Amino acid sequence: MEQPVQSKPRILSGVQPTGKLHLGNYFGAVKQHIELQTQGECFYFIANYHALTTIQDAAMLRDNSRDVALDYLALGLDPNRAVFYRQSDVPEVTELAWILGTVTNMGLLERAVSYKEKIDKGIEASVGLFTYPVLMAADILIVRSNMVPVGRDQVQHLEMTQDMAGKFNRAFGEVFPIPNWRLDKESKVPGTDGQKMSKSYGNTIDLFAEGKPLEKTVMGIKTDSTPLGQPLNPDTCNVFALYSLFAADEEKAALAADYRAGKIGYGGAKKLLKAKIDGYFAPFRAKRKELAGRPDTVEDVLREGAKKARAEAQLTMELVRQATGLRS
Ligand code: TRP
Repeated sequence: MEQPVQSKPRILSGVQPTGKLHLGNYFGAVKQHIELQTQGECFYFIANYHALTTIQDAAMLRDNSRDVALDYLALGLDPNRAVFYRQSDVPEVTELAWILGTVTNMGLLERAVSYKEKIDKGIEASVGLFTYPVLMAADILIVRSNMVPVGRDQVQHLEMTQDMAGKFNRAFGEVFPIPNWRLDKESKVPGTDGQKMSKSYGNTIDLFAEGKPLEKTVMGIKTDSTPLGQPLNPDTCNVFALYSLFAADEEKAALAADYRAGKIGYGGAKKLLKAKIDGYFAPFRAKRKELAGRPDTVEDVLREGAKKARAEAQLTMELVRQATGLRS
């Protein structure tokens, strides 16, 4: 069977519904993922099968999945441009995962760093956790993706996907394009304690925080104890680094000058930062609230997305069944 001809690259990425997005996620990944909508045919999905390896609470999985859907739609994911769906609405993924498992060496999975790290942390290993990379490869290959934007921690999983696709193609014929990855920006976003912003460090500024809770977080950003009126160094200041994410070059230069001249203290800088965060995210917050009041619309978007993704998945499975002899 001929492979369907594709003009634009097919871009795919998955996000686990495991909690609130923060500024580090946004500037490191989500923002670029949304921008990619204009550069290819994008497939973005909520990886709820994957989340089952860590969340075993129906209400929590449902709530988290709805939250990510709202987050992405509010931040600009456009369902007319990108196919947006829940992984579990495309069950062909699990069928392909089984088949890929038969061309995957145990040794390959045993070398998975993210698996080993979880074991080292004392997380009990389910078979699902062990075969997580096979399911991830199936996500990618089921729609015959060409490019996968991911963080550095996921690159090994992409190498494994390439390995599985290559092995499958050599055994059964060219069914899968070999997908490439595109590294997300190395996140330079500092957390409130100055370390890289990360949920596991508890130093995040949540994307959709606002009002008092946001104020409390911003006012709590760690700084040194230079007294008011003394010159400050913008180059080593977390508040300044965060402000820079939002500010135009002239604004950055102006604040840097005020820092060096001792014209502003950390409290004042934090207020400016809070105002920037509010200004930047105000439209997204409004959109999110509006969408949260229309759960049926969100559900419709995900169902429509699943329909499109499923049509592609069924096409792929047709090729796979023929190639493997599962279909006579
Ligand atoms: N493992 C990815 C993460 O934790 C999520 C994911 C699942 C994914 N399937 C994917 C990412 C397919 C890219 C492509 O971030």
